[in-house]
Amino acid sequence: MEIRIIENTQHQECDVLVVNKFENEVTTSEIANKYAIEEDKFEGKLGETYVLPTYGQECHRKVIIIGFGKKEGFNSNKFREAIVKSIKKAMSIEAKTVAFKLNGVEFDYSEQFAIGVRIADYKFDKYKSEKKDKRVDVVFVEANEAIVRKTEKIADAMSFTRNLANEPAQFATPSELAAIACDLGLDTKIYDKDECEKMGMGAFLAVGRGSSEAPKFIHMKYTCDNPKKRIALVGKGITFDSGGLDIKPASSMLTMKDDMSGAACVLGVMSIIKELAPQIEVHGIIAACENMPGCSAYKPGDILTAKNGKTIEVDNTDAEGRLTLADALCYASELGVDEVIDIATLTGACMVALGTQAAGIMGNDEELINQLISTAEKSGERFWELPMWDEYAESLKSDIADMKNTGSRWGGASTAGLFLKKFVKDVKWAHIDIAGVAFFESAHKELGKGASGAGVRTLLNYILN
Ligand code: BES
Ligand code: MN
Ligand code: ZN
Repeated sequence: MEIRIIENTQHQECDVLVVNKFENEVTTSEIANKYAIEEDKFEGKLGETYVLPTYGQECHRKVIIIGFGKKEGFNSNKFREAIVKSIKKAMSIEAKTVAFKLNGVEFDYSEQFAIGVRIADYKFDKYKSEKKDKRVDVVFVEANEAIVRKTEKIADAMSFTRNLANEPAQFATPSELAAIACDLGLDTKIYDKDECEKMGMGAFLAVGRGSSEAPKFIHMKYTCDNPKKRIALVGKGITFDSGGLDIKPASSMLTMKDDMSGAACVLGVMSIIKELAPQIEVHGIIAACENMPGCSAYKPGDILTAKNGKTIEVDNTDAEGRLTLADALCYASELGVDEVIDIATLTGACMVALGTQAAGIMGNDEELINQLISTAEKSGERFWELPMWDEYAESLKSDIADMKNTGSRWGGASTAGLFLKKFVKDVKWAHIDIAGVAFFESAHKELGKGASGAGVRTLLNYILN
C-alpha cells in the first residue's frame, strides 16, 4: 500500500473519500452532512462508519464517514483506531484508492495515520492457496511527509516481526532465525552449540537439549560514528515451547510457536535500523532454541551452571525462557552497554495479571522503566510496571543450588523478573513481559488475530528519541 501526500484530498479522484465526524459536529462533506447526519442521524461514535454513494456527482464514488467519537478525550490512540476501521471498511467495499479529508484534529496525526493504514493493510495469507485480494492500493492524505516516511519504516519492521512470529515453528527454527539475522546486513555473529558451551552457557544449552533443532546464539550489532549511548536488546527466542518434560496440556501448547515473539521483535527492530540510522549503538541478542521433551531433554531436578557461574536447580522445564535469558543477559552485561532491555513471552502469570491489554515491565532503573512506559503510551502500546520486591525471590531458594528456576505460583511474573535480575550485572536493565500481548487468539480491535508485533513501535521510538 502506498501513502501519497497531497495538498487537497477533497478534490482527488478516487474510489472513496473518508471524512471524519466527531459526535455533535458536522463533516467537511456537504452530502455527508445532508444525508447521513441530518437525514439518518449518524452520530459518529468512535470507529462507527457510514457509507454514502455519490452517484457520479463527485470525484469520488463513495464517501465513508468515520466516527471519531467525543472531542473531549480524543487522542492519538483513538485516532489510529478510527483510521484502521475506516480502511477496513474501504477494503470491504472493494476500494482501491482512498483519500482522507480529516478535520478538527488538534495534534499532528501523521505518525498514527501511517501506522493505522499499515496495520489495516496487514495480512498473513502466505499459506492460503486462495488470496482474497481486498486491498487498498493508494491512500491520499494531507500530512507531514517526513514523519509519514519514517513511520512507514516502523510499520515495515512491525510487519516483519508479525510475519516471523506468525510463521509455524516447523519453519521458524533457531537456524532460520540465525539465517534471517545474517541477512540483515549488520555486523552479526552466530555462536553454535560448541561455542556456547565454551562461553559457559549451561542454562541456555540445557533448554535446547531435548530438540533435534540445533540451538543458535545470535548477536547482531549496529553502530555509528560517536554513538550517544549503547544499548542491548535481548529477545526470548524459544521457537517452540512444548514445556519440555513438564509438558504443557494441548490447549496451552497450541500457540507456542509464538514463544519467539521477543526474538521476532528484536529482529524486526534490527531489520530497519540501518535505514533509520539512529545516533546510538544497538545490539540485538537472541538465545534461540526449541523446548522439547526429546530423549536428551533436561530434567526436573537437574542442576545447571549459567554463564556467570551461578547454579540453578530445574524445578520445572516449562520455565525455560528465563534459563535462556539468564545466559543472554550475562552476555549482554559484558558488552559494556549503558542499557539492557529484554523482551519476552515469559509468563502466563503476566497474562493473568494484565490480560491482553498491556505488557508487564520491571527492571532495576526507574528512569529507564518510566521512559519506556511513556514511549509505549505515545507509540500506541501499553506497558504496565509490576513490582520486583525482594520478598518474591524467597520462593526461588533451592536446598542444593544457588536458586531454583521457579518459585511460588503466585506473583509469577515478578518472581520471573527477580530470577532474571540475578544475571544482570552493573548495567541499567528493563524487562518487558509480552506474554499477554504478543499473539491474539481472539481478534484485537486493531490488530486482528495472531502475532501483534508487540514492542516494535515502542523500542524503535525509544531508540530514535
Ligand atoms: N512461554 C511460556 C509463557 C507464556 C504463557 C507465553 C502463555 C504466552 C502465553 C513460558 O515459557 C512458560 O511456560 N511459563 C510458565 C512458567 C511456570 C512453569 C513457572 C507459565 O507461565 O506457566
Ligand atoms: Mn515454558
Ligand atoms: Zn516459554
